[in-house]
Amino acid sequence: MIDIKDVTKTYHGTGQPVTAVRNARFSLSSGEFASIVGHSGSGKSTLISMIGGILRPDSGTVTVDGENIWTYPDDRLANLRNSRFAFVYQFASLIPTLTIEENVLLPTIFGGTAVLADAERLLEMVGLKDKIKRYPSELSGGEQQRVAIARAFINDPAIVLADEPTGDLDEETEADIIRFFERFNSDKRTTIIMVTHNSDLAARASRRFRMKAGIIEERS
Ligand SMILES: Nc1ncnc2c1ncn2[C@@H]1O[C@H](COP(=O)(O)OP(=O)(O)O)[C@@H](O)[C@H]1O
Ligand SMILES: [Mg+2]
Repeated sequence: MIDIKDVTKTYHGTGQPVTAVRNARFSLSSGEFASIVGHSGSGKSTLISMIGGILRPDSGTVTVDGENIWTYPDDRLANLRNSRFAFVYQFASLIPTLTIEENVLLPTIFGGTAVLADAERLLEMVGLKDKIKRYPSELSGGEQQRVAIARAFINDPAIVLADEPTGDLDEETEADIIRFFERFNSDKRTTIIMVTHNSDLAARASRRFRMKAGIIEERS
């Protein structure tokens, strides 16, 4: 359901041009859990952004459900990002003036059919049922990231793109967070692509990739 073919991106900054991603090519079936590891600067975030419809590749195709998303007009691409994709980043970026459950419901203002009960159910899945009326500042970093995961799943996305979602957490919390991703992956058959620095966690994914200087390859 995701087919990446010859995706390339070069940044033209002030100095030498940098080819951040070179001829990336792989396919994932629906419901697969893919991990991507690689040193800082190897192109992981650039690749994730191009798959997620955020950053336009210089060349190549990103095909989701049979269509190259980069042929879509902007409004259709925006709609796809909100309805079919979800993103989790290193920092949860919750809205401080909204409660936890309001934060989880936030993506539904741009579309989707989820209601408060869905937000509560997702928060229960990440073990935060007793904190739904709290504000982000009352939660630990790990708890805030669990809210971000619940929020990512509110519109029942087909693909979740997670860019170092545990990068700011201690090891134990990191393992918890990964367990939640694994649970959503198996319960909802959501395709997940996760960039992580933790090789033990990466090894648990069903598909394992490594990026090195812009080149992605699958590991056995
Ligand atoms: N907006 C940008 N402009 C210029 N160069 C960039 C930009 N974003 C990333 N790069 C460069 O592209 C390369 C890959 O970056 P990135 O995709 O962020 O890697 P990673 O996520 O693996 O750390 C790096 O050399 C980085 O400096
Ligand atoms: Mg990165």
